[in-house]
Amino acid sequence: MATTIAKAAEGGTATAHAARIEHVSKSFAGPAGQQLVLDDITLDVAPGEFVTLLGASGCGKSTLLNLVAGLDKPSAGSISTDGRPALMFQEHALFPWLTAGKNIELALKLRGVPKAERRGRAEELLELVRLHGAYGKRVHELSGGMRQRVALARALAQDSKLLLMDEPFAALDAITRDVLHDELTRIWRETGLSVLFVTHNVREAVRLAQRVVLLSSRPGRIAREWTVGIAHPRRIEDSAVAELSVEITEELRGEIRRHGQH
Ligand SMILES: Nc1ncnc2c1ncn2[C@@H]1O[C@H](COP(=O)(O)OP(=O)(O)OP(=O)(O)O)[C@@H](O)[C@H]1O
Ligand SMILES: [Mg+2]
Repeated sequence: MATTIAKAAEGGTATAHAARIEHVSKSFAGPAGQQLVLDDITLDVAPGEFVTLLGASGCGKSTLLNLVAGLDKPSAGSISTDGRPALMFQEHALFPWLTAGKNIELALKLRGVPKAERRGRAEELLELVRLHGAYGKRVHELSGGMRQRVALARALAQDSKLLLMDEPFAALDAITRDVLHDELTRIWRETGLSVLFVTHNVREAVRLAQRVVLLSSRPGRIAREWTVGIAHPRRIEDSAVAELSVEITEELRGEIRRHGQH
């Protein structure tokens, strides 16, 4: 099957979707021959939509996100995005020799923002992630939560329509994670960004998303999806969040049992 990765030109005409994943499969060469990791995934993310991709460890979530990011190519099928997406990972991947502000300015520079505008814009972005005053701080002077805020500001500096997030809060303690869920929800609602967020934490998926997509394992296929109609502001301990999480966890357990993992 032909493989195409079509990317809309940056600043091009608006498309009806932020990301379109059509019949995507991905195999890797392994010791026992080709290993099929993703099998026939079809998924659209609408403009402004927040979708979480949920699944057991090793089911292919990061693989799919990397394909959408254009870091790797599908073995079959096609992916298109509305412009180049921004990325945020579990590890902040900030440059330790640069300050928080300069890390953000680098992203602005790469986007072609004139030098004279970069500092002001970096400070605005730090304000948006509630890190006023962190401009001159080096990475090692920041807490884990603060680093992820800077990483988020740097992702936002790319001015992309689509933000791809791979377990960005997994290494944080529960309270810090909860605060960052609030911040991400606020920023998503303020900016109208589309978000494709990968997690294996069911509560986190329900807390954040408008739609939760569950992947099966070995190979990764779309097992089921849920529309989350719970009003914002949501809390991780809300009974509606808990109820839907129980239902999804049951389904996820079934997937894991079927494939003998964990
Ligand atoms: N570059 C690669 N070469 C070979 N195999 C790979 C490669 N990348 C991923 N895989 C395999 O693909 C499968 C899916 O990996 P992936 O990292 O996408 O899972 P995941 O759902 O993100 O898991 P986790 O929740 O643990 O992060 C795994 O079996 C992994 O070993
Ligand atoms: Mg992963």
